[in-house]
Amino acid sequence: MRRLMRSFDCHETERMDRAQPVSEELANTLRELEGMNRRFGGHRYVRRFLEQRLRPGHTYRVLDLATGGGDFPRVMVDWARERRVHLVIDAVDANEAIVELAREFGEEYPEIRFQVGDALRFRSSHFYDLVHCSLTMHHFTTEEAVGFLGQCRNLSKEFVLITDLRRSLLARLGVHLVNVLGGHEQMTRKDGDTSARRALSGVPTPGEGRGMGEVWTRAVSIFSASLVVAERQ
Ligand SMILES: C[S@@+](CC[C@H](N)C(=O)[O-])C[C@H]1O[C@@H](n2cnc3c(N)ncnc32)[C@H](O)[C@@H]1O
Repeated sequence: MRRLMRSFDCHETERMDRAQPVSEELANTLRELEGMNRRFGGHRYVRRFLEQRLRPGHTYRVLDLATGGGDFPRVMVDWARERRVHLVIDAVDANEAIVELAREFGEEYPEIRFQVGDALRFRSSHFYDLVHCSLTMHHFTTEEAVGFLGQCRNLSKEFVLITDLRRSLLARLGVHLVNVLGGHEQMTRKDGDTSARRALSGVPTPGEGRGMGEVWTRAVSIFSASLVVAERQ
């Protein structure tokens, strides 16, 4: 396996990954992440992805792994409702407090079912039309990240969309500045710095993605060179 250079210490956990009660800081951190996904192109990219692939009048099952505050599933449903596309979404996160907050944020979205679960071990009795995961690959060891691509492929019968920070000096500086200038919570700042340091330097090659099909990178945002997209069709 090709080694992707990154600074990853498995004993250093991001604050969001720690077991914790629901708190104002955690809720704000999730809102801040959502704001960044909105401002820096993550949401726009997903809407465009759906626009190009889903057809009005159809029902699609979607899995959002490591959903955080659930903003991506909500964006998908907002997009779908306007186009007579019916989505049934399972949104999974390992952190119980985060899932509780995501349920609160998603109260008006009966299309989304939130559940606590480990993305690396998630199993389902059926396949999904789209498996999505955003800003989470860098939480995994490189071996786990590679296995995770195969896991997403196995869960999907059609599309897999994974986005993440890509390791670069620009991403490190950019993430740091956005958090400091935005006056973001300590948790957002610390996790932002850790994330940028841990980010993979590229998407694992198709071979490493275990039969992933075509895997390639695409620009997503102003950190365009810094986000990775893997997609299977
Ligand atoms: C940086 S947040 C990203 C949240 C959301 N996907 C987004 O793009 O804003 C990373 C999320 O991954 C979750 N997470 C980390 N490891 C996980 C795992 N093994 N299984 C499920 N969720 C995990 C954390 O709890 C956190 O909510």
